[in-house]
Amino acid sequence: MASTTYADFNETTEGIDVAKSFSDRISGKTILVTGVNLGGVGFSTAQAFASQLPAHLIIAGRNPSKVEECLKALRAEFPGVECRGLEIDLSTQQSVRSAAERVMTWEDIPAVDIVVNNAGVMGIQERTLSQDGIEMHFATNHIGHWLFTCLIMPKLIKSAESRSEGIARVVNVTSASPTVSGMRWSDLNFDATNRTLPEDEQPQYEWFKAWGYNDLENQSYNPLDGYNRSKVANLLSAICMNQRLFEKHGVLSIAVHPGLIETELGRNFPSSTLEAIQVLKRQGFFNYKTLGAGASTSVVAALDPALAKGVGSSRGGCMNWGSYLMDCQISDKASPLAVSSDGAERLWKLSEELVGQVFIW
Ligand SMILES: NC(=O)c1ccc[n+]([C@@H]2O[C@H](COP(=O)([O-])OP(=O)(O)OC[C@H]3O[C@@H](n4cnc5c(N)ncnc54)[C@H](OP(=O)(O)O)[C@@H]3O)[C@@H](O)[C@H]2O)c1
Repeated sequence: MASTTYADFNETTEGIDVAKSFSDRISGKTILVTGVNLGGVGFSTAQAFASQLPAHLIIAGRNPSKVEECLKALRAEFPGVECRGLEIDLSTQQSVRSAAERVMTWEDIPAVDIVVNNAGVMGIQERTLSQDGIEMHFATNHIGHWLFTCLIMPKLIKSAESRSEGIARVVNVTSASPTVSGMRWSDLNFDATNRTLPEDEQPQYEWFKAWGYNDLENQSYNPLDGYNRSKVANLLSAICMNQRLFEKHGVLSIAVHPGLIETELGRNFPSSTLEAIQVLKRQGFFNYKTLGAGASTSVVAALDPALAKGVGSSRGGCMNWGSYLMDCQISDKASPLAVSSDGAERLWKLSEELVGQVFIW
């Protein structure tokens, strides 16, 4: 049964302290983090890893000047670490394919040990389709990461081949969305009115009211619903990666909710949503974490050896125990739909259809 090594790690634990505790699992490794900007969780995650001297630290982002800014800061703080940038726009399959090809051609990096799929967009106000015709949250947060990970999988498998099981890892940064949402299988692009959806695909209307959204039954697209569905996919994606890759190749995948941290994530929110967030905060529903504490759950997922034991088993009513982490510990708070093995399999097939490629290793 998967567990964690340090039961005392919690919502205030800093990423750098987690990294220090598993220092031997970082030293000499190659680690890639997506979505790295100075004010975001990706950067504090990269800093935590860099503190324990990986051989290579790759930071991936869509904005070359932001990536350069982060590289400069990391090189100044950790001169002993080889840091390099990778340009990738996760919303566009063509860009994802080019970035993956670049990683695959780096001869000095024959294996990639850890990938943290951290980038994300939230709250796109108008329904937007990607260049590939897929709703933008789903395209960026799930499809882009899933495709990128599949395309560089030979390098993760290479890492797993030469080391013990569960060293090679994929970490999907999800959110609390799996606790309140399932997938919108029948209407991925939000064409249908919510009340016409099958019962188990409808949004939790009461939850949306707390965010200031009323009458959702008679609407289709909602910016938070777009985000939630893509973040459920991040968790199901980790589960389906394990189904295909853990026993066969030793590559372990885990999804994490980083907690709530003040970053640029809310940049698309209108003032009404920002006010709803402040009300929830005043009512004591949450406290913000530091950027460093926002990184810590990803770092646990990437490194803790105890998580690699008994992946995919059930505990109590919770399927795929150990696939979802929160506050540095395994969480049982995801809804059954968000940790369903059947849902994971369905997502894999759907993702293959959407990118026009089948992946078998
Ligand atoms: N902050 C929170 O409270 C919170 C809560 C739950 C989950 N999360 C998750 O934590 C992760 C990190 O978010 P954050 O809070 O650090 O937000 P952030 O500061 O907005 O960082 C998001 C990162 O993703 C990048 N990104 C967005 N779209 C991209 C694309 N198409 N291609 C490549 N990169 C793209 C952004 O790049 P640009 O800067 O160039 O736009 C940025 O580097 C996200 O997955 C988010 O969903 C955060």
